[in-house]
Amino acid sequence: MGELTWSRAADDTVVADGLLAAFGESFGGEPDGVWAAPGRVNLIGEHTDYNQGFCLPLALAHRTYVAVRSRDDGGLRIGSRQAPDRTWEGTVTEVSQDSPGGWASYVAGVAAVLAEQVDPAGLGADVLVDGYVPLGAGLSSSAALSCSAALAWAELVPGLAGVDRAELAAACVRAENEYAGAATGGMDQSVSLRAVDEHALLIDCRDFSLTPVAWTLPGHQVLVIDTRAHHSLADGQYGKRRATCERAAATLGVGSLRDVGVDDLEVALAALGEGHGERSDEGSGASGERGVSGEPEEVRRVRHVVTENARVLDLVAALRERDAERVGELMLASHASLRDDYEVSCRELDLAVAAAVGAGALGARMTGGGFGGSAIALVEEAAVEEVARAVAAAFDDAGLERPHFLTAVPSAPAYRVR
Ligand code: GLA
Repeated sequence: MGELTWSRAADDTVVADGLLAAFGESFGGEPDGVWAAPGRVNLIGEHTDYNQGFCLPLALAHRTYVAVRSRDDGGLRIGSRQAPDRTWEGTVTEVSQDSPGGWASYVAGVAAVLAEQVDPAGLGADVLVDGYVPLGAGLSSSAALSCSAALAWAELVPGLAGVDRAELAAACVRAENEYAGAATGGMDQSVSLRAVDEHALLIDCRDFSLTPVAWTLPGHQVLVIDTRAHHSLADGQYGKRRATCERAAATLGVGSLRDVGVDDLEVALAALGEGHGERSDEGSGASGERGVSGEPEEVRRVRHVVTENARVLDLVAALRERDAERVGELMLASHASLRDDYEVSCRELDLAVAAAVGAGALGARMTGGGFGGSAIALVEEAAVEEVARAVAAAFDDAGLERPHFLTAVPSAPAYRVR
C-alpha cells in the first residue's frame, strides 16, 4: 500500500536556526527572540466552549514558531516561511476587520487588541512565522499562531509585563472573533497558552478555570487522522450552530446551555420542541431541519451540548480510573452525537472513525469544529501503525485522498525558544 504520511513535530533548534536566517533575508538583522505555541486536539467536549461548558483538549508537540523584533514606530511587517511572497506591511492602528485579512490577521489582530492597553507605537513589530501544525486539519494552527505572537508581545513590551496567560488567551480569542472573523469559543487559545505538559486540560469555559488531568492510559496512544477534507460549503455553519444554541438558551431562560444539566434535559427538550420546533436559522443542514430523528433542530443541538458536557466529566473520571474501554465508549458516543444531533461530521470523518474502530481502536471521534479536519482514535500502542494502515486502506477503497497521521503527545504550552 506504500508509505503512510506522518506529520512530525519539528525540532526547536532546527526551526529557530532556520527562522533566524530567513528573518535576516526578509527583514535584515536579527529578531529579539523566537517563540512557539502548540496546536491541540480535543479529547472530548466539542462545540461546548461557546456554550460555557466543558472541554478536554491537550496541547500537541506540533507548534507554530514566530521570530519577532519589536519596533517603536507602530509599524508591522508580518511574513511567513509558508507564504514567502505574501508579507503584509502596515501599522498597528490601521488593523481592522478587513485588513490584513487571511492568516496575517491572526497576528495583527492580537496587536490591535493589545493596543487597548498600551501605546500602539510600542506594539510595532517585524514578525516571521514558521508553522508545523498541519494547516486546515482542525488542529488549531490559527490559535497556535496568535498565541505565539501574543506571548512574544507580552515578553517584549514593558507595559504588558503584568498580563497573565489567561488574559493573553482572552486577547487572542478577541483577535479571532473581531479581526479574523471567526466566532470561536476559547478552547484552542486556552490550551495553547495554558496547557500542562503530559496532561490533558479540563477547561470550564464558564470562567476558563483549568484542571490538569494526568494522561494515565499507559500503553495507549491517541492517533490523529487528518482527513485532508475541508468542506467549504460548510463555512458559516459554525456561526449558525452558535446562534442556534444562544437562541435556545434564551428560549429556556438560561444564560447559556451550560445551565441545563442532564437531569433537566427532558423538560428542556420538551419546551423547545413545543415552542420553536419549526424555526431554523441554520438553513439546509445535511439532513434538513428535522434531521434523521425527525426532531426539531434546536432539540437536537441542545441535546448534543448537554450530553457532551456530561461526557467530558465522565471521561475525566474514566481517565483517573485508567479505564481505557470507557474512554473509548465515550468517544464513540460523542461522535454519534456530533454526527446525528449536531450535524457537524462528514463522510471522511465518519469513515475515519468506522475504519479505526474496525481495526481495533477502543474508540474514535471527530475532533475540533468538524466538516472535515481530523478525527482521533484511542489505540493500543502496538496497534497504532496497523490502525493507521487500515484507515488509509479504507480511504483508498472509497476513492478518497489518503489521510495524514500523527500521534498526540500531551505537550507544553507556549514558550520562548530563544
Ligand atoms: C473550533 C473552535 C473552538 C471550538 C471547536 C468545537 O475548533 O475554534 O473554539 O468551538 O471548534 O469544539
